[in-house]
Amino acid sequence: TGLITLDPGYKNTGSTTSSITFLDGEQGVLRYRGYRIEDLAEKSSFLEVAYLLIYGELPTQLQYEKFTREITTHTLVHEDIKKILDGFPSNAHPMGVLSSLVCSLTAFYPESLDPTRDEADVNLSIVRLLAKMPTFAAWAYKNEVGHPVNYPDNSLDYCSNFLKMMFALPAEKYEVDPVIAKALDQLLILHADHEQNCSTSTVRIVGSSQASIYASISAGINALWGPLHGGANQAVIEMLEAIKADGGDTKKFLNKAKDKDDPFRLMGFGHRVYKNFDPRATIIKKAADDVLGKLGIKDPVLEIAKELEYAALNDQYFVDRKLYPNVDFYSGIIYRAMGIPTEMFTVLFALGRLPGWIAQWKEMRQNGEPIGRPRQIYTGENERDYVSMNRRG
Ligand code: CMC
Repeated sequence: TGLITLDPGYKNTGSTTSSITFLDGEQGVLRYRGYRIEDLAEKSSFLEVAYLLIYGELPTQLQYEKFTREITTHTLVHEDIKKILDGFPSNAHPMGVLSSLVCSLTAFYPESLDPTRDEADVNLSIVRLLAKMPTFAAWAYKNEVGHPVNYPDNSLDYCSNFLKMMFALPAEKYEVDPVIAKALDQLLILHADHEQNCSTSTVRIVGSSQASIYASISAGINALWGPLHGGANQAVIEMLEAIKADGGDTKKFLNKAKDKDDPFRLMGFGHRVYKNFDPRATIIKKAADDVLGKLGIKDPVLEIAKELEYAALNDQYFVDRKLYPNVDFYSGIIYRAMGIPTEMFTVLFALGRLPGWIAQWKEMRQNGEPIGRPRQIYTGENERDYVSMNRRG
């Protein structure tokens, strides 16, 4: 069996070769299929980036039109999925609802369970996922607030359709604010892929057992949910709110984060790979100022975030450990300005990460990768003789 190398958290273990996303954590560089994240965030649209990640090239005008048309055709979900949604109590976290609804697609499209199906059929699953995810996400929110669900409006672009399904009420007129739709589109691009992170590795490892693409993506959503991963964007706002409620003393919270006896961490700070500025955080910080300015919103929490960032970047503890703000530090502030409630932040992360998960799942299948099965070093008891119950204790 050979020698087993122990690497908890896979800090130095490569699980695959990949041609999708390049990340240089020392230099703070991120590229999708060779294109700089800064260029994509400024010049591209989310569905263009989704196409790029999944199919490897930026789409031509014709390819783009076909792709968006296909996605628009599949935005409706089976009415029975509404019954599943209705079964959730209103206090269900929308991430749990989202992963369940995505997994339920295995029942509505059981052909996805067949690992031998052809490329065109797999492609249909990919389109369905991209098309239905905004519907599920908006419905998870409607379940929480007890409002009737909205059906997709296929005359709208991807983000506007999602925003309308989220916010429109039957009794009121609703117009999508283009500033908000554009800001959302950019945030989704920034979240679209990030090589072998926890949720992506989960998608690949579940998919490596030849499970359905829907089951694999559903598993990724669950992995993303945790506060050390995508859940950090919710945790950041909760932290900033707590600092505000406590009187706004950022130094006090900085000291708590440094105290090894205190489990508190500075949420939205630090990254397994980036030991320099997270390039996404730089773009998002600027976007936060832009979007709040355009919407005419003054959020005291943004000031606290900036103060906290400044204090941390000038503190020896954070400097020594190369801890910089990550993608989650400012994204929540923009989501809030858009009117998105805190518990939906991670759902938006999932919406953004979906093309990355799909591209990585597809690559794993195309490479014919073997089933993921890490080893262990056993530290338990040696062989023991069985003791009957009346002789124990
Ligand atoms: N606040 C205070 N100390 C920290 C923080 C933080 N946010 N992050 C890391 N450290 C310290 C940590 O205590 C350790 O110190 P020491 O060497 O003295 O024991 C050192 O820095 C290295 O940290 P680590 O925990 O070994 O690093 P990791 O690569 O295992 O963890 C991380 C990476 C992102 C989980 C961690 O930095 C963290 O918990 N950050 C806060 C949560 C967060 O913002 N997560 C979002 C990550 S980015 C987007 C995403 O994945 O969704």
